[in-house]
Amino acid sequence: MATERTFPIIKPDAPARNLTGAINAVIEKSGLRIVAQKRVRWTRAQAEKFYEEHKARPFYGELADFMTSGPIVLQVLEGEGAIAKYREVMGATDPKEAKDGTIRKLFAVSKAETSTHGSDSPAAADREIALNFRLDEIVG
Ligand code: PPS
Repeated sequence: MATERTFPIIKPDAPARNLTGAINAVIEKSGLRIVAQKRVRWTRAQAEKFYEEHKARPFYGELADFMTSGPIVLQVLEGEGAIAKYREVMGATDPKEAKDGTIRKLFAVSKAETSTHGSDSPAAADREIALNFRLDEIVG
């Protein structure tokens, strides 16, 4: 399997509860490498642009509100099959359905407050990384 990059966000519910390090410990234990990371606060325009594929969904406004409600941590992870691997490490969107040991089972509050986002395809990872990082901010 090829080395890939994926784009996680540690979503506002997690930094608010001081869980950034705990989430990073799960990531690093999985073997994925954090090759870029920055703590930021998104504007409404940045949140709406990032999640524009969900524009027609009923939760779009709530999602943009939530993602601008506090600091978030943007990351790039690198590893073999990183995109699929990080989706396993995150667990299901609904924490009630997430498997034991996954980030969402351990830390998520609800389907909205999921503690982390992860890219769902190589095209999404490319887009999400390009929207949020300059190339020189990623040190592999
Ligand atoms: S669904 O309903 O299972 O199809 O949702 P999903 O496609 O997995 O979710 C896409 C992202 O939307 C977030 N989400 C919500 N945010 C706010 N409020 C509500 N009600 C809500 N429902 C889903 C969900 O956490 C996903 O965020 P990301 O960052 O992409 O993981």
